[in-house]
Amino acid sequence: MKNLVLVGFMGSGKTDAGKLAAARLRMTFVDMDEIIEKRHGQTISKIFEAKGEAFFRLQERALVRELADRQDRVIATGGGVVLNPNNLRDFNRTGIVICCWVDAKVAHERTKNTKHRPLLGGQTDRLVRIEALLRERAHLYKAIPNRVDTSAMSVEQQTDEILRIYKQQAGL
Ligand code: S3P
Repeated sequence: MKNLVLVGFMGSGKTDAGKLAAARLRMTFVDMDEIIEKRHGQTISKIFEAKGEAFFRLQERALVRELADRQDRVIATGGGVVLNPNNLRDFNRTGIVICCWVDAKVAHERTKNTKHRPLLGGQTDRLVRIEALLRERAHLYKAIPNRVDTSAMSVEQQTDEILRIYKQQAGL
């Protein structure tokens, strides 16, 4: 089976919907950030702090190449995977890429009590930070033809929509 690749901003539900989609499709779920953390024995925040964002992006790029060479996986990417166009090119080769869109306010609601996202900094001014980052990246997310606006959706609704698109495109 073709990979199902979930792309989207932080708080767009890639991980939660991805896990549910994988269970329903009986495919293996993988979370890119989790793999990078395990391989480095450090959290994403620590990697950003100790080695910098550029280093993290190189690890992310290498992992995309590795995962794009396999099949039968539901892949939750990190929100910045769209920054390198080669990542989407590789994922599109062996999988179906679906963008999970989320509005800034909802992304803020969903992430405001979390501490593991280095790009969002502390709790203060987080909404402003999210709005700025989303504005910078919106064109990259919106260029992905398969898009689900998750802003007003439950994880179940989001998963249903993801599965509908995946099955249609995979010819299932
Ligand atoms: C990032 C999103 C994070 C993680 C890292 C950078 C981004 O993943 O990869 O903190 O650039 O948007 P999630 O989208 O799973 O939070």
